[in-house]
Formats: sequence, C-alpha cells, structure tokens
Amino acid sequence: MESGIQIAVTPWALFRDWFAEAEAAEVNDPNAMSLATVSAAGAPSVRIVLLKDYDMRGFCFFTNRESRKGDDLAANARGALCWHWKSLRRQVRAEGSIAMVSDTESDAYFAMRPRGSQIGAWASLQSQHLPARADFDKRIADCTHQFEGRAVPRPPHWGGYRLTPNRVEFWQDQPSRLHDRLVYTCAPGATNWATERLYP
Ligand SMILES: Cc1cc2nc3c(=O)[nH]c(=O)nc-3n(C[C@H](O)[C@H](O)[C@H](O)COP(=O)(O)O)c2cc1C
Repeated sequence: MESGIQIAVTPWALFRDWFAEAEAAEVNDPNAMSLATVSAAGAPSVRIVLLKDYDMRGFCFFTNRESRKGDDLAANARGALCWHWKSLRRQVRAEGSIAMVSDTESDAYFAMRPRGSQIGAWASLQSQHLPARADFDKRIADCTHQFEGRAVPRPPHWGGYRLTPNRVEFWQDQPSRLHDRLVYTCAPGATNWATERLYP
C-alpha cells in the first residue's frame, strides 16, 4: 500500500476526518481559517474567519457584507481558504467561487448567536474608519436600547458566504521535510474529483 495520506474518493470525506482530529487536538479555534480575497483593483488581502458549516456544497463563514472582504467579493467572487492545524502538523487549502448563502441559512445562524454578538453585528461598521472607541461604545449602547425587550433581527448587511471549491489540497508534515501533498480538483459544475500528488 502507498504510504502517506490515504486517498478518499472526495475531499469532503478526508476533510471531515482531518477536521474531527483538529477539533480533538487544537487548543482553540480549530475552525479558524485564513480567507484570501482580491479587490476590484486586483490587490489580494487575507484575514481569519471561522468555518461555521460545511457540506458537499462548500465551506461557510459569516461576516459583514459591507466589510472590506464583502467589497472584494462583490467585485471578484472567488477566494481561497487555508487551515493550519499546528498540533497535527497539517494544512488544508481550498480555492473556488464564493457566493452568499440563502437568507434562511443566514437567519438561522444569526438566531443562534449570543445576544451581545447580535447587537455587535448592528453596531459595528466593520472595516470602516472608527474615530474613537467611544463612538463604537455609543453605537452599542444605542443598539442595545433600540432592541430592548425584543429579538434582535439579522442586519441586512450581515450574512454568510459559501466557498465552493474546485481545488482542495491536503498537506501532511513528514520527517526531513519530505511532506505529503494530495490535491483534489473538480471541473466547474462537475461532481467527480481527480486526485494527484505534488512534490513537497
Ligand atoms: C480567530 C478569529 C476568528 C475570526 N472570525 C471572524 C468571522 O467569522 N467573521 C468575521 O467577519 N471576522 C472574523 N474575524 C475578524 C477578521 O479576521 C477581520 O478582522 C474582519 O472580518 C475584518 O476583515 P476585512 O476588513 O478584511 O473585511 C476573526 C478573527 C480571528 C482572529
């Protein structure tokens, strides 16, 4: 039998196994992932977001759609994700198209969030200039007052995105830096995945 990462038919089966192991092994935030986007001018940027759901349609995260990343995605609906699970010495990379999730999915996730985070989603003008921290505190106080005694609705500018990958790469550390790299690729609209190994 070939040594190294065991090939599964789809990247989803392998991701599920590796993610479960990361959840057991990592001290915190095993679902933290780097999200790279590209602006209308072609400038890349990257930041951490949390993976909140995944299935065969793709990887989901939630954010303010009027943020810098939201502007990037409105101009250029492609992106890349990267997880590094230090305890396991593993990396996963996913690249593909990014689309908004349905309002139903965004509503369902927003409703599960703690009330403080719900208020924060209204109060934070994510990625915009904040003259003084006190301005943010005031917005939080105002929103808290506005929604007193009732459920906090999802702000129209806040919701989820799903990256549907056409390429997913699994990287496993090996002695002497002879790492193992397994890449899954899928043509747009297809469901069958091809695999190949890459030199480290
Ligand atoms: C561990 C961690 C988890 C984060 N999770 C999210 C998230 O799920 N959604 C989000 O909008 N920002 C999240 N952030 C904040 C982002 O990294 C970033 O600061 C913010 O989204 C603004 O990015 P932008 O200006 O590029 O749009 C997280 C940061 C860290 C360090």
